[in-house]
Parts: sequence; structure tokens; C-alpha cells
Amino acid sequence: MNVLLIGSGGREHALAWALSKSAQLETLYVAPGNAGIDGLATRVSLDVADHAAVVDFCREKNIGFVVVGPEAPLVAGLVDDLSEAGILAFGPGKVAAQLEGSKGFTKDLCARFNIPTGAYGRFKDAESASDYVRKMGAPIVVKADGLAAGKGVVVAMTEAEALEAVAACFDGSFGDAGAEVVVEEFLDGEEASFFAICDGETALPLATAQDHKRVFDGDKGPNTGGMGAYSPAPVMTDDLVKRTMNEIIEPTMRGMAEMGSPFKGVFFAGLMITEKGPQLIEYNVRFGDPECQALMMRLESDLLDLLLASAKGDLAGKTLSWRDETALCVVVAAKGYPGAYEKGTEIRDLDKASADPAVEVFHAGTKADGGHILANGGRVLGVTALGGTVAEAQAKAYEAVDRIDWPDGFCRRDIGWRAVAREQGEG
Ligand code: AMP
Ligand code: GLY
Repeated sequence: MNVLLIGSGGREHALAWALSKSAQLETLYVAPGNAGIDGLATRVSLDVADHAAVVDFCREKNIGFVVVGPEAPLVAGLVDDLSEAGILAFGPGKVAAQLEGSKGFTKDLCARFNIPTGAYGRFKDAESASDYVRKMGAPIVVKADGLAAGKGVVVAMTEAEALEAVAACFDGSFGDAGAEVVVEEFLDGEEASFFAICDGETALPLATAQDHKRVFDGDKGPNTGGMGAYSPAPVMTDDLVKRTMNEIIEPTMRGMAEMGSPFKGVFFAGLMITEKGPQLIEYNVRFGDPECQALMMRLESDLLDLLLASAKGDLAGKTLSWRDETALCVVVAAKGYPGAYEKGTEIRDLDKASADPAVEVFHAGTKADGGHILANGGRVLGVTALGGTVAEAQAKAYEAVDRIDWPDGFCRRDIGWRAVAREQGEG
């Protein structure tokens, strides 16, 4: 089968790496991909926002299956347009993608189907949002309703901060995404990412992970797309996984079906593990980046087979096999990220980093120039290692990072600290 994968991040390199191991795969095309994908797939430049052009490409290349990596094309309805053209695709349609595309949509769904999450209000003007903030008091969380590239959330420790965030949303800081605002109860606990794959009627738990959103060690500095991740997340005990499936994922799946928009694709639930148990912070409707890099290192089952089963409605009775080891991914970013950074600086010795069979260097913002690899984005590499313990995976990942010669890059030095502390506490 010929497959088209859409996206250009580290997530897509990891997906391409896992897909290319499938016996069912004939040719893998990636639009647009990055330099790391060159050896695995044929890269194509396609305007993904032009759905008709994507359909034409699929017909021309006899593509049997399209895997959509990032959220924007899902929210824009690419999967619906492909399905209408008779082309099978992985990921939710436009309406089901509202689980990520509109925070208010998800909160209303939680309210209707009794899914545990923080109390909230939805507002279309600053005055009523501000009244709600004053009524509830701080700490409180202010969120732009729509997609804001991870920047639309303010966790306000004071009322003044929350009122400022409300004003910023309605001042147009987030464009259309901020035309509506969700104000939400502050949830206290440890965060975890939970992934489950769904075919509309059956949901299968995949794996747990923990991300590191802040740019600097000790979880300091501004938020980023994610500076590193590991899987599994030890905070997610078997009991918490069961509760998350029963109390969050399955009611969401049933609720979406009941509302006439069955969800097919991957649920990426951002959870807060509170004293009361798992609570939903938010849904994403695609794999996390860099969580996906860690997940793909642990997955032993055939990824293509799994994604096809989700799209075709064939998940019932499927079981998956995962490596027991921990996979840990350290993101190496261009100095200055998440602010301004330089592009075009050369990265050397990548082959030395991936010499260890337990290590994969997934590319994100890179491009090839002759025989050279140049930085071409904010998050540039995801150096991912497997280890028998979290501490071992962490040591291997940093050993590999240290073999890379790229003076213009930086990384956090403490990815995995929570799990390592837990491990040492137990030992
Ligand atoms: P999001 O962009 O929705 O992933 O939110 C960014 C981050 O804000 C999350 O990863 C949490 O750390 C934090 N956050 C969001 N909602 C809440 C909440 N209700 N309580 C506490 N922290 C939150
Ligand atoms: N790493 C968080 C995300 O992909 O949204």
C-alpha cells in the first residue's frame, strides 16, 4: 500500500520511522517532511491547505491511506474531503476535531457526559469573563477558545493576572482563536499525557507519557511546544489508566457518537492527576510532539496496521505490544527558542549520536544542503533513547546529545527528573 504522511515535525519523523517498518507499506510519501525523513520516504511539496491538490496527488500516486500528523489540517476538514473522494485517512473529521479546535466545545461535552474536568464558563465579551474571574477568585485559568499554537493559556495565580489575560484575549492577541474565552478552575496535581486510539466505537489505550513544556531546567521560563518527554509516565498507575479509560476516554467516545460525530483517530488527553483522580485539562486530536517520538520507540506492533484499523473501524479485539523499557526524548532547539532564533546553522556529528542502537535522532526543524544538515526551525532534533530504567534512558539520551556538534543549539538537562526522582525514591 502507498501511504501519504502529512507534517514536518519530529512527530512525523517518528511516525515515518515506525510506518516504514510495516510489511504492508510499499511507498511512503511525506509532505513536506524534514531532512531526517529523506532516507525513509519520498518527500513531496504539497499545499496541504489545498484539499483538492492533496486529493489529486493521492489519485496520481495511487495512495491507499493518508496519515495526518498535525492538528491544523484535521481542524480544517482534510480527512472529510479525502473521505468524500474515497481516500482512506487517519484522524478525525472537522467536527470531531473540535475536541482540540475549541476548548469550549470540549468543556460542554464534559459537562454533558459527566467527564471529570474543572468548573468553567464560556464568554464572548471581556466584561462577563472578568465578572466570572472576580466571582471565582485566583488561582484561575484563562484560555483562548481556538487554536493558538500552545500560547493561548494563562494559568493566573492572582486575580489581576487573570483580568489582564482576559483583556489580552479580547484585544485580539490570539486573533480569531481569542474571540471566545474559557475561564476555568485551577486544577492542582501532576500532569500526564494519555494516548488512546479510537475507531468511533472502540477505544484502545496506547501509552502514557510526560512532557516538559517550559523552556528551562526546573520547569522555568516560557512555555514551548515541548522540550522533552518520556514514556511510560510512572505517575499513571494501572488503576489510573483504567479510571482514565472508564471516566474520560470512553464517555468522550460515546458522547461524540451520540452527537453524530464519532471520533476516529488518536485521543491525546492532557490530564491532571488530582486528589480526586484523573481530570481532563484538554484534548488534542493527534499525537503529541515530542511524546510521539518516545511512544514510537516503545511500540512493537505494526503502526500502519493500527492506524488503518482506526480508520476502518476494525479496532475491536486488537491488542498491542510495547517494549517495557522507558523511552526518553530530549529536544535540542535553536538558541533563542521559543523567542527569535537563527536558521541555517550547521549541525555536525549526527551519525555519532545515533551510533548506539538504543538511540534514534528524530529530526524536526532541519533541512539538507548538499551533504550538510542545517537548522531550519525552533525545535530541531529529538534525541530519543531506550533504557531499562528512566535514569538509564536519560543517561543514554544525554550521551548522544553530547556527541552532536551544534554550538547554536541548546537543550534542557533535566528531562525525566520527576520519574528519576520517583525511581530513586523507590530504590
Ligand atoms: P494547554 O495549552 O491547554 O495544554 O495548557 C497549557 C498548560 O496550562 C497545561 O499543560 C497545564 O500545565 C496548564 N493548565 C491548563 N489548564 C489548567 C487547569 N485547569 N489547571 C491547572 N493548570 C492548567
Ligand atoms: N507536546 C505537547 C503537544 O504536542 O501538544
